[in-house]
Amino acid sequence: MGGAMLRSWLDNNLIGNINIIDPSPLPSDLQSDNRVSYISKYDGSKIDSDIVIIAVKPQILSDAAKDIAENINSGTLLLSIAAGQSITTLENIFGSGKAIVRTMPNTPAAIGKGISVSIANDNVNREQKAVAQALMDASGQHIWISDESLMNDVTALSGSGPAYVFYLIEALAKAGEKAGLDSDIATLLARQTVIGSAALAEAENDISAEALRQNVTSPKGTTEAALNVLMDGRFQDILSEAIIAAKTRGIELD
Ligand SMILES: NC(=O)c1ccc[n+]([C@@H]2O[C@H](COP(=O)([O-])OP(=O)(O)OC[C@H]3O[C@@H](n4cnc5c(N)ncnc54)[C@H](OP(=O)(O)O)[C@@H]3O)[C@@H](O)[C@H]2O)c1
Repeated sequence: MGGAMLRSWLDNNLIGNINIIDPSPLPSDLQSDNRVSYISKYDGSKIDSDIVIIAVKPQILSDAAKDIAENINSGTLLLSIAAGQSITTLENIFGSGKAIVRTMPNTPAAIGKGISVSIANDNVNREQKAVAQALMDASGQHIWISDESLMNDVTALSGSGPAYVFYLIEALAKAGEKAGLDSDIATLLARQTVIGSAALAEAENDISAEALRQNVTSPKGTTEAALNVLMDGRFQDILSEAIIAAKTRGIELD
């Protein structure tokens, strides 16, 4: 996820220099970018960057951050994308005087089509908020919220959401195969149907999803026959159950 956001910032020339600390080697496109410096392990030096981005798994956040936390300048903005890690948890790790933005992005950020939701603590000044906004704008749409309790709902919907859509492609392809299509054709049709429908929803973004659906559903036609099954409540129930499972996991992670 950190790499996805970084690519959108580099593509938009938003950052001059970035230092990456990551035990895994960098992908080749980042290695060859002269704005990117890389170390595999934090060497204990003072961190005087304008912004520090925290993009490790929530489970290892406090371990990964404990060495760097005391070496971060008080004027540095911390931007965390770790799911389920509250502002209070981040303040406990990095210090209560630190300027902290908690953000939930999603992976379409890599191609500027993400959606992210952020909340800032009281130490974040106007200029830092504008910088965070500019960074998030580069990777797609962005909104601020003031009620942090909604962050786990956001994570469950848009943060984890791309995986649900990819699963929809897999499930559609399997259903097509079961109906009689070859696997290759079913996979192509399923993937391109999701891509095309998403592009149409984007092109006609003033039309609700409900209206777009109704526009392609003729009375007593094939689409209506399928929707009679899909809209009998089970699909909605299972999606709601999935979102609650993701939200519950987010709560457990803090
Ligand atoms: N994936 C998503 O769709 C998504 C969406 C929204 C938010 N997020 C959030 O983004 C964060 C990263 O998730 P991800 O899915 O991108 O995980 P990921 O692919 O595992 O990326 C985490 C990176 O951090 C590295 N790392 C491990 N220990 C480190 C340390 N001590 N210091 C610095 N870097 C270290 C990992 O290296 P190794 O591979 O060597 O361990 C890996 O390159 C999580 O907090 C997650 O909640 C993810």
